[in-house]
Amino acid sequence: MKVLITGADGYIGAVLAPYLAEHGHEVSGIDCGFYRNGWLYDDGRRRPPVATQDIRRIDAADVVDYDAVVHLAELSNDPLGEHDQRLTYDINHRGSVELARTCQAAGLHRFIYTSSCSVYGAGSDEIKSETSLPHPQTAYARCKTMVERDVQALADERFSPVFLRNATAYGASPRMRFDIVLNNLAGHAWTGGEIKMTSDGTPWRPLVHVNDICEAIRLALEAPREAVHNQVFNVGSDEQNYRIREIAEIIAGTFPGCVATFGPPSGDSRSYRVSFAKIHRHLPAFRCRWTAERGARQLRDIFQRIELSKEVFGYRAYTRLLQLKYLLATRQIDEEFYFREAAERATPA
Ligand SMILES: NC(=O)c1ccc[n+]([C@@H]2O[C@H](COP(=O)([O-])OP(=O)(O)OC[C@H]3O[C@@H](n4cnc5c(N)ncnc54)[C@H](O)[C@@H]3O)[C@@H](O)[C@H]2O)c1
Repeated sequence: MKVLITGADGYIGAVLAPYLAEHGHEVSGIDCGFYRNGWLYDDGRRRPPVATQDIRRIDAADVVDYDAVVHLAELSNDPLGEHDQRLTYDINHRGSVELARTCQAAGLHRFIYTSSCSVYGAGSDEIKSETSLPHPQTAYARCKTMVERDVQALADERFSPVFLRNATAYGASPRMRFDIVLNNLAGHAWTGGEIKMTSDGTPWRPLVHVNDICEAIRLALEAPREAVHNQVFNVGSDEQNYRIREIAEIIAGTFPGCVATFGPPSGDSRSYRVSFAKIHRHLPAFRCRWTAERGARQLRDIFQRIELSKEVFGYRAYTRLLQLKYLLATRQIDEEFYFREAAERATPA
């Protein structure tokens, strides 16, 4: 299958692109390149080509040759979304819906959208399934629900969108993120020997390994239309509904000598437990091969191999919000987050 991945140079994309190619797909990527200089280690895999392009400037000619699009390119977490809500709506909502419209009009068959379990937002202890009412707490999560709604309306006899509500990812990717919970705690454990939680860590946060997300995406691409057409799936496993405190304890147990301490209850209302039963019914080959324990060991081994330092752990390109603030402050991107031309950058403001 000819597959175009948007956001192919991001954390998930840098694992997904070679993975789909290794499974026989003809893969290309596009990415505007916000985090391209954040490359933590080499994994020795052959990487499909990635064109530098913004999703807001894609037209039919860019997608018409493909069978499917996997759409990852968005501003990818809650603090980013809160930093500039207008831009989050512009890129994540409007950009994603326009891209889906372009794909539908160009005659593509499948459109995989990486949504998020954060749409469940604040919760009681009730376990959320795909039919639960979303309760998004942030602009990022609200955009996910709006894209799902608007792209579902585009489905027809030819165009099959599929919505994968991923749990919070963890695990190694060459284009690493240290701003997601397990990876962040592992980095602290390795470089500082301690995890100091400012809160009590009671909120629930389902996790899923980046490799397992890639498997779900592949199976959703390859599945017969009737199994996935216009369906929403939570991606993860019931066993990986962790409390943040448990994640900290798993990390502390994996990194020798690491101590975890906790603070008082916090005001963070994002807490949700999720059922992952539906994806197993529709995509029976899917299973999570990773656990938080195994992912923590994987990170420990990589940190050891590359001798991860405090400086590299703190490097801005591994924390999405820091990198975007840097690109703005140095006038590399404009206020709409488009990269400026080199000549324009050289002119003082
Ligand atoms: N990582 C997680 O925990 C997680 C969980 C659930 C859902 N998701 C979703 O999966 C997708 C990928 O997540 P990720 O962790 O790889 O994020 P990421 O930030 O590492 O990657 C996103 C990529 O998209 C690119 N991009 C952003 N805006 C763009 C634009 N306008 N045009 C072209 N490229 C653009 C960035 O340069 C980046 O390389 C996102 O939609 C995210 O919301 C991620």
